[in-house]
Amino acid sequence: MQRVFSGIQPSGIPTLGNYLGAIRNWIKVQDDHDCIWCIVDLHAITVWQPPAALQQQSLEMAAVLLACGVDPARHILFLQSAVRAHAQLAWIFNCVARIGWLNRMTQFKDKAGKDRENASAGLYVYPNLMAADIHAYHATRVPVGDDQRQHLELANDIAQKFNHDYDVEFFPNIEPLILGPAARVMSLRDGTKKMSKSDPSDQSRINLNDDKDTIALKIRRAKTDPLPLPSEPDGLADRPEARNLVGIYAALTDTDHATVLREHAGAGFGTFKSALADLLVEKLSPIATETTRLLDDRAELIRTLKSGAERAAAVAEPIVAEAERIVGFLSMR
Ligand code: AMP
Ligand code: TRP
Repeated sequence: MQRVFSGIQPSGIPTLGNYLGAIRNWIKVQDDHDCIWCIVDLHAITVWQPPAALQQQSLEMAAVLLACGVDPARHILFLQSAVRAHAQLAWIFNCVARIGWLNRMTQFKDKAGKDRENASAGLYVYPNLMAADIHAYHATRVPVGDDQRQHLELANDIAQKFNHDYDVEFFPNIEPLILGPAARVMSLRDGTKKMSKSDPSDQSRINLNDDKDTIALKIRRAKTDPLPLPSEPDGLADRPEARNLVGIYAALTDTDHATVLREHAGAGFGTFKSALADLLVEKLSPIATETTRLLDDRAELIRTLKSGAERAAAVAEPIVAEAERIVGFLSMR
């Protein structure tokens, strides 16, 4: 069975973008892969996180992932900081990756913004740590949203350079799994911007713990245009907000843009938005209810994460030890 790895930052409540772009696909691949799901707190601190909030968000993320259907018995769910191998391999990758490669990363440019001199050094080498996450397990498939494509290409470049420099066939090539009609969910206020946990406007996103009324209100207020829905996907080409809502609808119903348009061609947004809001409430409210229930038993969540970390370490430690031997670190064993 191919090994799958993916991660999510505990930097806030996950959004509909995280759910449709990533988490839902995690659940789908669990049936026929051996999966490792990681809450990446080392990545989260590349931008400032108040310590108490980081702890709470890490637990909440674990609860949300379990509520969405992550199966911690058949697969592994754990916190990145609990397995030292990630940071150890990341250091080696800091010395393999080239500065020129990192300079091309668009996510760094977006996140650092105008004041690049003041961004953390961690934010700059973030993709090297992400490569280490995956390669520490010899994982070959990585389900993510479309925004992570460039980071996965870099992870392959790092593996190739390592293999080439040390003349080994040690790290395998990885295949991104970027699936479905909502691999890039856009902001509800601006169809050209990604929906994000860190957007200052809460109206720009659906959070997985939003209640029924909040979901309905956010969808009703979502930016759209005055035209009715077209009958073909081509008709969405210059209508990013319309395209986004249709994509969300398609993902939630496990269909595609064309199918949704066939059903709703000619509808105004009043009607379509109300159908979309109902669908969102139907799919998301059981997740919110289950998350709340799981958060009631903090000790049980900690037990799950601890068992996950032990099993993750058992896979990663020998792989990273071998990478260290390849590099030429003298073993004391
Ligand atoms: P992050 O919240 O940045 O840790 O992202 C976790 C996962 O969610 C990654 O696989 C991202 O690609 C995915 N993701 C984040 N935002 C979106 C979005 N707006 N649309 C689709 N996927 C997303
Ligand atoms: N960088 C990813 C994001 O923000 C999260 C992440 C960290 C990840 N390590 C990973 C995703 C390894 C896939 C595999 O979306």
